[in-house]
Amino acid sequence: MMKLLIIGHKGQLGFELVKQAPKAGFEYEAVDLPEIDITNQAQVNVLIETSKPSLLINAAAYTAVDKAETEPELAFKVNRDGAENIAQACAKADIPMIHISTDYVFDGQNTRPYREDDPVCPLGIYGKSKEEGERAVRAALKNHIIIRTAWLYGVHGHNFVKTMLKLGQERDVLRVVADQHGCPTSAADLAEAILSVGMQSLLVENLGWGTYHYCGQGITSWHEFTEKILEFAKPHIEIKTRKVEAITTAEYPTPAKRPMFSALDCSKIGKYFAVISKLWHTSLKNTVETILK
Ligand SMILES: NC(=O)c1ccc[n+]([C@@H]2O[C@H](COP(=O)([O-])OP(=O)(O)OC[C@H]3O[C@@H](n4cnc5c(N)ncnc54)[C@H](OP(=O)(O)O)[C@@H]3O)[C@@H](O)[C@H]2O)c1
Repeated sequence: MMKLLIIGHKGQLGFELVKQAPKAGFEYEAVDLPEIDITNQAQVNVLIETSKPSLLINAAAYTAVDKAETEPELAFKVNRDGAENIAQACAKADIPMIHISTDYVFDGQNTRPYREDDPVCPLGIYGKSKEEGERAVRAALKNHIIIRTAWLYGVHGHNFVKTMLKLGQERDVLRVVADQHGCPTSAADLAEAILSVGMQSLLVENLGWGTYHYCGQGITSWHEFTEKILEFAKPHIEIKTRKVEAITTAEYPTPAKRPMFSALDCSKIGKYFAVISKLWHTSLKNTVETILK
């Protein structure tokens, strides 16, 4: 059986990777803080030398987009240096790596979904640290796959969906940004896609190392996303919210500037790995129901 090493198993994505790895045909080892700190190069080297996986997935990251603006050192340490430590150790041990990145490497000025080779231009510290992480992985390790995803939510961990489910039970009116557009992505769907890409990469040599996009299918705004979350929750819990008011980004200032449009074009991953995105609202309905069960 192929052995998978998952770093960051306590996160939204890591949790789903662990859950789905066996049925995807992997045996796995999973680590996270505090036992492994990816910013510690010696720890990472020992981990990879002793684990000896067939494939490594890095799902560990610093993901606090706004907090990163006041903690840039830590964001770069984890998202750039941590990714580099892992990629270098993988190169030494000749192990392929799948690394996860973000739509926030783009500036949001596009009028069509972003392709993998569109120029990057992150607007904030988080995006910049992830972009430098991508570059470090490419430079250190030939046998890598970088998968950029977007607007991630899951059953496990903190995310926008859970925040809106909580606020929906507390407030009469929610005010939500309607002029930022992107693609909500279920962590369960993303894990399934990553594991499929990983297994195919091990079975077929040189199938396609490089950078790919994977996110939910369809483009929405945070405002419409919220309306759907509440709609799917209503049959299961009492929702107090009577109105989701559409506001502009200017009316909801945040420490980090975000791209106004960050939809990702996922045709490349379909072409190389036959991975097809699922409709964002279908996956959202499943996740909301699982959370509320
Ligand atoms: N969330 C999104 O909306 C989104 C969007 C696009 C792309 N992504 C990318 O998708 C990937 C998965 O995101 P996610 O939402 O699943 O992240 P998450 O829930 O924040 O999980 C990340 C995990 O990494 C751990 N971690 C942080 N620093 C570490 C370190 N120095 N050493 C080892 N582990 C460390 C975290 O531990 P602690 O919790 O203890 O810090 C956490 O368990 C990330 O690469 C992220 O950048 C996320």
